Amino acid sequence: MTPELDDTWEPLRSAAFAAKGAAHAPYSNFRVGASLETTDGRRYVGCNIENASYPVTMCAERVALGSALVDGAAEFQRLFLCADSPDPTPPCGMCRQALAEFAPDLLIVSEGTSGARMEWLLSDLLPAMFRLQPSELDGGAG
Ligand code: THU
Repeated sequence: MTPELDDTWEPLRSAAFAAKGAAHAPYSNFRVGASLETTDGRRYVGCNIENASYPVTMCAERVALGSALVDGAAEFQRLFLCADSPDPTPPCGMCRQALAEFAPDLLIVSEGTSGARMEWLLSDLLPAMFRLQPSELDGGAG
């Protein structure tokens, strides 16, 4: 499936590719760029940032999310992803959960180096997201 993208995607797509160029990925050589769009049309980008201590690595999606949140943006409608793989890569499980906290119905498009694209709704990628119930948030242990 390679969905056609209308013109409104182009700024989001080019921002994701530019962000991929900033990736720090000397261990995997798998660069990822992400561009996250708010419901009022602002964009925040991220790239993966690896570390010699491998688990310290941050994914592109969560770098973009953190960048948005620190700027006061917390409502999102679309995400464009690109990575150094021929096939479009979906967001990893940890990023799905992180994004779903703010935008469970996020529309995600990913493009591979072959030019192939895939499109998903986050709610389809993470159908049973973890949430705390109000009773678990009021400080009570039981
Ligand atoms: N990576 C991301 O940036 N986003 C994902 O959703 C999956 C994985 C990065 C982490 C690591 O730097 C590299 O891709 C290989 O796992």
